[in-house]
Amino acid sequence: MTTASLGSRAVDTASRPVVKGGNPPGTCGRHVAYAKRLQIRKNGTGRGGYGASGLMCRGPLRRPYHGGSPFERSLVKRIVVTGGSGKAGRAVVADLGEHGYEVLDVDVTASMHPDDPTRIADLTDLGQTIESLRDADAVVHLAAIPAPNIVPPGETFRMNMMSTYNVFSAAEILGMSRVVWASSETLIGIPFEREQPRYAPIDEEHPRLPESHYALSKLAGEAIAEQFNRWSGIPFVALRISNIMEEPDYAERFPGFWDDPTLRRWNLWGYVDARDVAQAVRRSLTVDITGTEAFLVAASDNCMTRESLDLMAEVYPDVPVLGDISGHETLLSIDKAREVLGYDPQHSWRAYVSPG
Ligand SMILES: NC(=O)c1ccc[n+]([C@@H]2O[C@H](COP(=O)([O-])OP(=O)(O)OC[C@H]3O[C@@H](n4cnc5c(N)ncnc54)[C@H](O)[C@@H]3O)[C@@H](O)[C@H]2O)c1
Repeated sequence: MTTASLGSRAVDTASRPVVKGGNPPGTCGRHVAYAKRLQIRKNGTGRGGYGASGLMCRGPLRRPYHGGSPFERSLVKRIVVTGGSGKAGRAVVADLGEHGYEVLDVDVTASMHPDDPTRIADLTDLGQTIESLRDADAVVHLAAIPAPNIVPPGETFRMNMMSTYNVFSAAEILGMSRVVWASSETLIGIPFEREQPRYAPIDEEHPRLPESHYALSKLAGEAIAEQFNRWSGIPFVALRISNIMEEPDYAERFPGFWDDPTLRRWNLWGYVDARDVAQAVRRSLTVDITGTEAFLVAASDNCMTRESLDLMAEVYPDVPVLGDISGHETLLSIDKAREVLGYDPQHSWRAYVSPG
């Protein structure tokens, strides 16, 4: 990718449109096209999109606008999804677009989908972050180094901490209505080597026991969110997401889990489909809360062919199992997400691969 500095922003110069005479100052051809689309959309037949005022607007705006009554249209919100080019982000951008939101991906990497507009920015830089989030009503913050051991621990912490601080700061400075962001299941003590689960199913009340610098960055994010909420009144929803899977993962990876119950013991055999992450994000954007809330987000079942109580008895015989767990039910409780968000996971590996 070719990048160049534009003020405080790094932009993808290869994909910037050539501006020829005739466009208003400070706009490009795509902005003019966007204005035309906006006019069409106001007439009820056009498509959604986002980026009328951003210098880095690029790419046709793919997501369909679903119309609805004038009242419903007035509720359409402009959402920035940070990390929208990544695994969870792709599903979130698609889902929000399909539900009538105007969405902009902000990422250091352009979206793989040629029609998704990406605003290229490094969110570890506060100036770039504020510029990139300027026109949004709310932000879904997913950008991060998404696991331990991808880059050195200190770099994981620096990048995740600075980008999270900058996004939360920008939300406050820009007066956004809401922040929904990716915390992580790793907060609960994963990989349960030094620590043991205190009980199962694990819920949001379980002690937070970060065991990596990655998990530490998520714990710090939750602490910082509480203070930004106190200062600004902006609601912050933290999603403690389980191990994210996409459809091809089910056939390619899951059969390899089944013979050895210790292989996936590290997160109590949990997982979640990226499309269900997107559902949780969407519901978090409108749930009626004023403070900070955290929700575990997992599939409703485990990743194994064996039943959950059977797995607990073999691998964690000393961990108390609370409540009724039946069959392959998840050991990462999604009760709070179900009750408060209305979260209802739709995707299980069992629909894609036979236990054999
Ligand atoms: N993948 C999982 O199993 C999992 C589980 C729990 C939580 N999470 C969290 O969910 C979120 C999304 O994870 P994912 O699996 O989609 O990760 P991903 O790596 O597929 O996507 C992350 C995106 O963030 C972007 N990014 C990283 N640093 C950036 C920066 N400084 N500025 C701008 N963009 C930047 C990357 O380019 C990438 O497109 C992360 O916050 C991760 O910590 C992931």
